[in-house]
Amino acid sequence: MKIFIDSANLTDIEDALKRGFPSGITTNPSILAKEKKCDFREHIHKIIQLVRDHGYRDIPLSVEVFSTDTAEMIRQAEEFVEEFHYEGLNIKVPIGWDELSVIKKLKDKSIRVNCTCCMAYNQAVMAAEAGSDFVSLFSGRIRDIGYDSSAVISAVKQTIEDRGCPSKIIVGSIRHIADINEAMQAGADIVTVPPKFFRQMCSHPKTTEAVNQFITDFKEWLK
Ligand code: E4P
Repeated sequence: MKIFIDSANLTDIEDALKRGFPSGITTNPSILAKEKKCDFREHIHKIIQLVRDHGYRDIPLSVEVFSTDTAEMIRQAEEFVEEFHYEGLNIKVPIGWDELSVIKKLKDKSIRVNCTCCMAYNQAVMAAEAGSDFVSLFSGRIRDIGYDSSAVISAVKQTIEDRGCPSKIIVGSIRHIADINEAMQAGADIVTVPPKFFRQMCSHPKTTEAVNQFITDFKEWLK
């Protein structure tokens, strides 16, 4: 099970990279739009530079196309590959009937694809069968309309394994730490996590209590 950083914020990304646990980074147009207005290409270059500065060799970085026109999606994807020259680049393409042809064309060009916005078992399976390197299931949004995201994750995992598809399941749209735990237990290969959860994932009141007790006891003994 791997943890990706679900953010384009340079400070948050660097804080995480310094701690050794991230195995990748995911962005999307809304995540990028949260950052100070800039040339997004320059911003992605800064993310890549952080990755390299901290000694991570070409970990997966997802950058999403921002068009609904399939020809434009392919043009943007090829532009991103040319612009970033980053071995770990994955082009995010939303799931859809027409978008499957984009996935196939990009894979035929040996461009890595993260098929995103998957909200249902059938969508993720279609993306995997189309050859997508990653299929991204949106836990929070699946739950928004009353479906059990853990059940969807487990079913997709089982089918991908049964079919021998190489696709990896990324679970995103994380709203609570419980979503992360449940996605991991349901079989996700990767959970992409907003940075605001990272500190919380490492803390617990009983840990603080134990550490403080140990230090207090030992300092008392040293007197
Ligand atoms: C993955 O990167 C997804 O794009 C992201 O987790 C979506 O999160 P949201 O459903 O909160 O927009």
